[in-house]
Amino acid sequence: MSMATEGTVGNDELTTLKLLALDGALESDVKISCAALAADLDASNQTASRRLQHLDDAGLLARETVADGQWVAVTETGERALRAEYADYRRLFEEHTTVELDGTVTSGMGEGRHYISLSGYMAQFEDRLGYEPFPGTLNVALAAESTRARTALDAAEPTKIDGWEDDDRTYGPAFCYPATVLHDGREYDRAHVIAPERTHHDEDQLEVIAPVKLREEFGLADGEPITVRIEVAS
Ligand code: CDP
Repeated sequence: MSMATEGTVGNDELTTLKLLALDGALESDVKISCAALAADLDASNQTASRRLQHLDDAGLLARETVADGQWVAVTETGERALRAEYADYRRLFEEHTTVELDGTVTSGMGEGRHYISLSGYMAQFEDRLGYEPFPGTLNVALAAESTRARTALDAAEPTKIDGWEDDDRTYGPAFCYPATVLHDGREYDRAHVIAPERTHHDEDQLEVIAPVKLREEFGLADGEPITVRIEVAS
């Protein structure tokens, strides 16, 4: 019986997952034999088999057993786990880097305008970001690959906007990541990605604020492609 829960495995399993990814299991299904994997891992067949089982139980690996071995593929959860490792290593060894997230412009429900305009936030934006944002957020629907890649934001150092309260309710904190917006060969570099939490895996929406109305700056309509480049400092 396995104690593994969704998404959590030990370092031995992550190493195994990395080996499978190096064998091509990120891009497509690859056929492996336990004996060959065991040799690669310098471990027993039993150990190799147990690690595969743990990865499977935790949802990091999809498997199909056939007569002479098994087909394996790293799942989206598995790719996120590897990307989290990658973000750690990048943080360790890279001075300075950027991540580019691709998506399309979408419309939200008009909430951005309301929140950005609240004085409790606005004063902090002016103070900490150095500008008064256009009242609203530009919503970007991220492509699947970029939804996964946003894990890289873990290594960024956002500006924190504190939570606050008025007589009626409390308003949560937010994190602002310095960002450059790119569209059609042009770029605007005084924007920020704003998010309610430090990390936000799985989310396929990005919200961007800027001192200008980005739709006007770029002539953007819903569905148009946009790239958001975020500084990931170490
Ligand atoms: O309706 P929705 O939630 O998408 O928008 P909002 O946050 O209320 O913002 C009002 C409008 O301004 C929307 O069309 C946003 O896409 C746009 N916007 C922009 O172009 N540039 C910004 N810096 C912020 C918002």
